[in-house]
Amino acid sequence: MPNYRIAWLPGDGIGVEVCQAARTVLDAAGFQAEYLPGDIGWEFWRTEGEALPVRTVHLLKSTDCAFFGAITSKPAKEAARELVSGLQDKGLSYRSPIVRMRQLLDLYVCLRPCKAFPGNPLNYREGIDLAVFRENTEGMYIGVEYPRVPEIFYQQAGMERIPRTAAISLRSITPEGSRRIVKAAFDYAVKNGRRKVTAVHKANVLRATCGVFLEAARQVAGEYPQIAFDEANVDAICMWLLKNPHSYDVIVTTNLFGDILSDLCAQLVGGMGFGYSGNIGERYAVFEPTHGSAPKYAGQDKVNPLATILAAKMMLEWLGEKDKAAAIEQAVAAVVAQGAVRTYDLGGSATTSQMAAAVAAALGR
Ligand code: IPM
Ligand code: MG
Repeated sequence: MPNYRIAWLPGDGIGVEVCQAARTVLDAAGFQAEYLPGDIGWEFWRTEGEALPVRTVHLLKSTDCAFFGAITSKPAKEAARELVSGLQDKGLSYRSPIVRMRQLLDLYVCLRPCKAFPGNPLNYREGIDLAVFRENTEGMYIGVEYPRVPEIFYQQAGMERIPRTAAISLRSITPEGSRRIVKAAFDYAVKNGRRKVTAVHKANVLRATCGVFLEAARQVAGEYPQIAFDEANVDAICMWLLKNPHSYDVIVTTNLFGDILSDLCAQLVGGMGFGYSGNIGERYAVFEPTHGSAPKYAGQDKVNPLATILAAKMMLEWLGEKDKAAAIEQAVAAVVAQGAVRTYDLGGSATTSQMAAAVAAALGR
């Protein structure tokens, strides 16, 4: 019997409840593992000044993969206030633990499947089935930011246009980083019988960085003649995705665009109650619901746990437990289609734990 070691990181707020729901379903699916709890999130930032303590990084390094709930980020307003009041280092020192995990462990793929479960009242349209591949380690999220523009920038040609009061965030895109995420998208397309990969960019304005990404995408596309390839500007595809969501299949893009587009795509298939992610590298992966910690719902046993349950399903796929993964997906589909047990977002009054129990029960059938 396989003995998996899984870092278990529920985090803050509703992260705790939805992870419990996922455990109920993992257990009901007969999945055996050792779950090792890890500290992460707001409380550790407050008490230790570190939202991702070193002991948690060690835990990640000693496990097969991690399962993550959600964390409460430092409020943007608070960070901005610190910057304005001159506490620049403090304002910038908070770094999102999930972004850090992606970078530290080189989890360069952020895979966000967005599939409409038949009969979901929240479906924008039936039959939508998209997979978003978001580059997870570079782009606008490298964390190189200047709250004031360094003098050296002004000494360079053309920088006079930047006001002295500006803040700057740098965007870094490499050919290697672009290549591997596009390749991951194409490999996924081949493996899953998909017909098309769309590379999303803004190369008409961000010529240097999106130029690198697009060139890599075209090269990789040439290596997969059996899969169709097209390109779209990020602004235009937001419109087209709403106009004609069925004409897209696998979408691959850089970090910030992928962050934004994956929320849009999640909303097409039911919103944050259905958005789940795999942060995947060569040897390690962190699975999570895409939503946040929703402090206003914390402790109420109220939110939809399906995103987290689907994240657990993806974890099983990645671990090679294909049958159990497929069974969980079918159980979720059955509960959604039946509609007898629904959380508030779906128009019902079931609790988080009742929804998890319903999925667990559907597994038995
Ligand atoms: C996501 C989230 C994170 C991100 C936040 C919480 C830092 O929005 O996973 O999409 O921006 O990547
Ligand atoms: Mg996001």
